[in-house]
Amino acid sequence: MDYFNYKNGELYCEDVPATRIAQEVGTACYVYSKATLLHHFNQIKQAFGVLNPTICFSIKSCGNINLCRILAEQGSGFDVTSGGELYRALQAGGDPKKIIYAGVGKTDQEIRDAIEVGIAAFNIESEAEIENIDRIAGELGRQAIGAVRINPDVDPKTHAKTTTGKKETKFGVDIERAERVFDQYRGLKHLRIGGIHIHIGSPVYEIQPYVDAVKKVTALIDRLTEKGHRIEWLDLGGGFAVNYKNPEQAKPVTEHAKALIPLLKGKPYHIAFEPGRYIAGNAGILLTKVLYRKTGGAKQFIIVDAGMNDLIRPTLYESYHFIWPVKPDPKNVIDRRDSERLPVDGEIVDVVGPICESGDYLATERALPKTQRGDLLAVFTAGAYGFAMASNYNNRPRLPEVLVDGDTYRIIRRRETYEDLVAAERV
Ligand code: LLP
Repeated sequence: MDYFNYKNGELYCEDVPATRIAQEVGTACYVYSKATLLHHFNQIKQAFGVLNPTICFSIKSCGNINLCRILAEQGSGFDVTSGGELYRALQAGGDPKKIIYAGVGKTDQEIRDAIEVGIAAFNIESEAEIENIDRIAGELGRQAIGAVRINPDVDPKTHAKTTTGKKETKFGVDIERAERVFDQYRGLKHLRIGGIHIHIGSPVYEIQPYVDAVKKVTALIDRLTEKGHRIEWLDLGGGFAVNYKNPEQAKPVTEHAKALIPLLKGKPYHIAFEPGRYIAGNAGILLTKVLYRKTGGAKQFIIVDAGMNDLIRPTLYESYHFIWPVKPDPKNVIDRRDSERLPVDGEIVDVVGPICESGDYLATERALPKTQRGDLLAVFTAGAYGFAMASNYNNRPRLPEVLVDGDTYRIIRRRETYEDLVAAERV
């Protein structure tokens, strides 16, 4: 469910026509819907309501401080994975006591800064990191708090590049080793290890991998408790999938909750989640304009003003993003985004960007209504890992971000300038 719909034959974000934003802000740009963002945050909160979980929005998915502030005001915490993300979370008004910090390669400086601002907990990924955090906290005369990230060796059945909870990935401590680690580091002076963390992958379309992982870690917590370790919280990470292809593709979070709540209800420890994509994914689109059409061999290319530097997911993960004209021919106005839908009088095209690489595409072999120079296209479900993964490759200024709230919108990140491209080099 989201608030990007066709009304009067054209695409609206909430009550603002996308054409108006394109005219006034220019293309390409990212457009977010506040109502959609809040809808998904509240959906997770309500679905797991009986567990009263802490929800820490995974800031890596979509870090604009103006969007994060909206979530912080709703009580969201933040999952961060670098010093820069910690800074962002704080600039967005995030409560340090609700910030958790994961990542396999935290530097000493990043650890120091996080301890000094008083984050809730580190999600610790190795024995070496446990020792390092204890040492640094000691030097600061502070006590750090941490969870051990467990690698439960569960296959989330997603793209290899975003699978994180299998043994052969770099994340966490193997579950077989976990008890030994807790025993070995019992009673550290400057680090209190009170939690267990997992994050199995992203996006996860099936429920079973979560169920398997939760069964494994709750059994681990039982064993640890028997041995006298006190586990105060279990952080289940993020990964809930969203609808890229059609409205039925991803399970609503209520389905995940139905399966997981019986495994977690009544446990003597607190529950946390770190969703990113589920909250932000369908809350944003990439609005782009057709620059040219051309043929190449048997192919028809639609060249647009957004490229792989603006949205890298299609070429990096072969991800599917639904694309449709903002103002289609009346016979192609849709009330449902479905990858199976064939346009009337359409054509099969590659939607490509201006970058000097043949991997620069937003879609390949895609059935689309016929478009011409100047037409606007919406690339849907681009709110998570869209702008967040953008770069300046080919010296393309990064795009503006726009936030729609009802019938108004505002620019929440200005378009970068050419001077922005070189500013840090004026040394
Ligand atoms: N927690 C941890 C420790 C994570 O590493 C991640 C994502 C999340 C939470 C949030 O996952 P989410 O709920 O957003 O699925 N760039 C890829 C996704 C990489 C995800 C990395 N970690 C993509 O565009 O699909």
